[in-house]
Amino acid sequence: MISEEIEKLEKEVWKDFQKIENLYHLEDFRIKYLGKKGKINWYLKQLKDFSLEEKKKLGSILNQIKEELETKLKLKEREILLKEEDKDIGLDLTLPGRIFPLGTLHPITKIIEELCEIFLKLGFEIITGPEIETEYYNFTALNIPDWHPARDMQATFYLKNGALLRTHTSPMQIRAMLERTPPLRIIAPGKVYRCDADIRHSPMFHQLEGLMVDKDVNFSDLKGILIYFAKETFGEIKVRFRPSYFPFTEPSLEMDIECVMCKGRGCKVCGNAGWLEILGAGMVHPEVFKSVNYDINMWQGFAFGLGIERIAMIKYGIDDIRIFFENHLIFLESFK
Ligand code: DAH
Repeated sequence: MISEEIEKLEKEVWKDFQKIENLYHLEDFRIKYLGKKGKINWYLKQLKDFSLEEKKKLGSILNQIKEELETKLKLKEREILLKEEDKDIGLDLTLPGRIFPLGTLHPITKIIEELCEIFLKLGFEIITGPEIETEYYNFTALNIPDWHPARDMQATFYLKNGALLRTHTSPMQIRAMLERTPPLRIIAPGKVYRCDADIRHSPMFHQLEGLMVDKDVNFSDLKGILIYFAKETFGEIKVRFRPSYFPFTEPSLEMDIECVMCKGRGCKVCGNAGWLEILGAGMVHPEVFKSVNYDINMWQGFAFGLGIERIAMIKYGIDDIRIFFENHLIFLESFK
């Protein structure tokens, strides 16, 4: 009886289905039962000699098996594919998760950000400018004419056509004053270049320039701001001011902090002085105001400039500047 045979076929189909383990089995199975010449089609073809009633009944049973089989085969195929994928990437759910190391800010970037933060609180605005400068901005406008010996103080990298790599961030004073009208308060962090290389000097390093211009800014405002800056950066620390000379400020000063290593007793780091020099500053020279057409009877200002690496070296107790640019991971990761 054909109906019994179909019943047997159904059982056989599901038993065989259980045995499918991979895509080869699956394909064989599909051909065997669902293919054009497969078992289900074979039985469907046999029905043509049966009565209409039987055709309907048996036909619908066979088609039902066919449909169910098609859906189940699709699911089975996905299941197998997923398993194979897992095998491909060697998935082992018991392994611990992978650690993806995160980068960190470079210590110099960190210090720049910290310093900017301090001056932002004091109402200074951050500006940046070109590292390739002209002699005019780098020297002349800062009251350092051609013949001036101060040009030799800073071993300059000259480029073609009178261009140069800026030797300090002070040209940003000129740029800031030409771009805006006073009163103004700016800081300009950035890279500077000097032909110099040893454990204390790198041919490329960073400075931060500060400039404030207003109607009655005076020397004690400058001192107040510098003391505030030193305390914010190094904590409670003794500072001292020494008279100094820069062509673009008059009077000029240098600020020292008590040596962080020996607390002023004298050691190798401070060369037995007990003090560490951290910046230069002064009242803007009238010649500088003249070069930007600021009325020297109306405006006064102060400027300061500091070396970022120097601050970082003091803060972190580093004695070789080159380590900042060698970028060894062990060094960089210690600032995490
Ligand atoms: N430009 C100076 C240098 O690189 C540092 C400096 C000193 C900047 C005094 C200033 C300043 O603005 O007032 O050595």
